[in-house]
Amino acid sequence: MRIAIIGSGYVGLVSGACFADFGHAVTAVDNDPAKIAMLLRGEMPIYEPGLGDLVASNVRAGRLSFTTDLASAVSAAEVVLIAVGTPSRRGDGHADLSYVYGAAREIAGALQGHTVVVTKSTVPVGTGDEVERIIREARPDADVSVASNPEFLREGAAIVDFKRPDRIVLGIEDDRARAVMQELYRPLYLNQAPILWTSRRTAELTKYAANAFLATKITFINEIADLCEKVGADVQQVARGIGLDNRIGSKFLHAGPGYGGSCFPKDTMALIKTGQDHGASVRIVETVAAVNDQRKRSMAKKVLAACGGSLRGKTVAVLGLTFKPNTDDMRDAPSLSLIAALKDAGARVRAYDPEGMEVARRMLDDVIFASDAYDCADGADALVIVTEWDAFRALDMSRLKSLLKAAVLVDLRNIYPREEAARHGFVHVGIGRTA
Ligand code: UDX
Repeated sequence: MRIAIIGSGYVGLVSGACFADFGHAVTAVDNDPAKIAMLLRGEMPIYEPGLGDLVASNVRAGRLSFTTDLASAVSAAEVVLIAVGTPSRRGDGHADLSYVYGAAREIAGALQGHTVVVTKSTVPVGTGDEVERIIREARPDADVSVASNPEFLREGAAIVDFKRPDRIVLGIEDDRARAVMQELYRPLYLNQAPILWTSRRTAELTKYAANAFLATKITFINEIADLCEKVGADVQQVARGIGLDNRIGSKFLHAGPGYGGSCFPKDTMALIKTGQDHGASVRIVETVAAVNDQRKRSMAKKVLAACGGSLRGKTVAVLGLTFKPNTDDMRDAPSLSLIAALKDAGARVRAYDPEGMEVARRMLDDVIFASDAYDCADGADALVIVTEWDAFRALDMSRLKSLLKAAVLVDLRNIYPREEAARHGFVHVGIGRTA
């Protein structure tokens, strides 16, 4: 099957490489010549474990190619996937659909033969209808079906998530689209991945509902963590105690500094706007978004308290800048709010991240960037773990203690048992634990 993917960002690139690996012939398109030039040189524009090798082997096999020429990719394709960005629109929080609609217009001009145009980007309900309207208006003669196929992959585990999905959601409005989408996903279909056939609008809403539910789960356990601290309970045991109930499930119950990333903050906001526009406010999600924003800022108070109530003139070492491990993505990362609040409180900040340094240097002023965790701790008054990179899970505590000015560990991901930190003479502040 011949596929064109419009947009070679996270979703486009990972999906393109995986579809090629299934045996399809994939052309990945991007309107950024620098990005396409990088990909043609075999360099990855993002950090994602395993992606470089997967791309290289499929390019070698002749199944994956890159181009800026949308028209030729689309005219040769049976399926065109739109995987461009849908950032928050400045000012009002709605999803900005200008890239999706721009892509639809360009695609329309190049369509040849029956083609299924699929939105893979996360798009609000009704976007598929508008994509279809744009295409039909521009090309009344085009033989086109428009489908929705939201992508649920996580950064850092993107290839595994794509190849072994919990489910595939396919929103279609006609039988021809169904046959083509079935063929597209045949390798996964044979693997017995559950496929949910829905209407286009239902598929679009399913993606937002999934992300909003996960954001709610995290925010719920974060608030329970705060309560644990007040009443002397342990949030990790509470999470296990509730998670073993199959109706709740144990995943996404790790209390921490609040969720960040490219999806949850913008998608919860877009869902809130959709609800408000349709007179059906999703109040629970409105609260989740507000509580999470406040939480990210309030993490600095923990550091302040651990440092005796003042940060003026003190140095804080921050370990982990990306919004989660195994990515170089810093979008809406808790570290950004924390560092801003630490600086407002008069602290100097040293920081280190295993993969995010290049991005961090572009985003953060007035921060001293260290070469590793120990260099980061050198001379600091407190060490704060913000992102749970594996490289931070077995640090040499004695060495850290000898480097730090004060043995204070603020562990916002609960990766060190309190007893272990205490054994090495650290004052340890975690999340939702007092004993
Ligand atoms: C998420 C969804 O998981 C994915 O299905 C969707 O396609 C895109 O959005 P991603 O943003 O890559 O994926 O990361 P994820 O692993 O879900 O983590 C999101 C945020 O929640 C991170 O900041 C993470 O630290 C936080 N989180 C996650 C918690 O604080 N606690 C948890 O238990 C789980």
